[in-house]
Amino acid sequence: MTAERSNRGLILGIETTCDETACAVVDADASPRVLASVIATQHELHAPYAGVVPELASRAHVERLIPTLRAATAQAGIQLSDLTAVAVADRPGLVGSLLVGLTAAKSLAWTLGIPLIPINHVHAHLLAAFIERDEPAEQSLPAIGLAVSGGHTAIYDIAGPASVRTLGATIDDALGEAFDKAATLLGLGHPGGPLLEQLAEHGDPRAHKFPIARLDKTSLDLSFSGLKTAVLYAVRGIPARGGVFQRDHTALTEQAKADIAASFQHAACAAIKLKLSRAIEQWGGANAPRAIVAGGGVIANRAVRATIEGVASKHGLPALLAPSRYCTDNAAMIAFMGSLLPLPEQAKAMASPPRATVDRV
Ligand code: KG4
Ligand code: ZN
Repeated sequence: MTAERSNRGLILGIETTCDETACAVVDADASPRVLASVIATQHELHAPYAGVVPELASRAHVERLIPTLRAATAQAGIQLSDLTAVAVADRPGLVGSLLVGLTAAKSLAWTLGIPLIPINHVHAHLLAAFIERDEPAEQSLPAIGLAVSGGHTAIYDIAGPASVRTLGATIDDALGEAFDKAATLLGLGHPGGPLLEQLAEHGDPRAHKFPIARLDKTSLDLSFSGLKTAVLYAVRGIPARGGVFQRDHTALTEQAKADIAASFQHAACAAIKLKLSRAIEQWGGANAPRAIVAGGGVIANRAVRATIEGVASKHGLPALLAPSRYCTDNAAMIAFMGSLLPLPEQAKAMASPPRATVDRV
């Protein structure tokens, strides 16, 4: 714990950017430490549509936020009046979903007379890598950051919790979105990422040579739409005239499906390896990165984790990966990032109230 961070008290985190309603309490004075983290998922609501339906998500947040808040304060063993600040994910996300969390956070902060700290959800995914670590985040900064979720895939220069600069990003689909689409094509459920990972365990990663987008020689941008299309053709065959496919996943054996899943995952990992290595090599200069920091739903994937660890060890850097339970959307990372922001940043946050912005989750 640094002197600057002391006496911050108990920070409530609220996360409603997409399809998880989440509340958490972090003790900002103790390392900081997560006292409670409660997540109400909406997977069952969206599964029939194989994707998140924004209107359903917003309505479910309205119903689930107060029970989730109650569960979090009970788990932490505190009263609302014990809180010293409210941190809320205010961007990016589905606008209707964001508004539910923001409205609740503003109301709580105003009623309790405590600061409101707006948090960038994607930056919180990155900083989740420091939850449950004894050493302060600053010791590992500057770092190369990698956020991979259902809505974002990007590489960052992290100079500090309030200083995160994008170096490159996907020019089309996020990798999580590609995982989910590939899973749907293979006849798996929603969200497909974890199910595809399971299926890939029994497959041959070299069965299909799926494309890895290099873009130009120095680009740190990524692209996964070609990979998605390649999976479409592997599952359904090349369409006949008029774009009609001759088959779907039911025509494939379990082994054939597992081979496609494993080859997809292999190509995804190869793209990450290529772009992360480039980012490290291009960084140069005296202010070299001290670590690779990664978070977001797809970082829960074991092959992706192993890939990042491999790149880090090749370059003699530590790989700081968000603990798996803090990879997918959660409010602990929101409250945790609130506890890391320097006090002037928190004060600034109060002076300029957060706005909901329309963006991808
Ligand atoms: O970070 P997150 O919960 O939500 C966004 O901010 O988008 O990420 C959700 C994404 C989904 O696309 C989900 O399929 C993917 O993360 N995901 C995984 C795994 N667990 C979650 N993808 C691959 N392997 C996993 N084990
Ligand atoms: Zn997320």
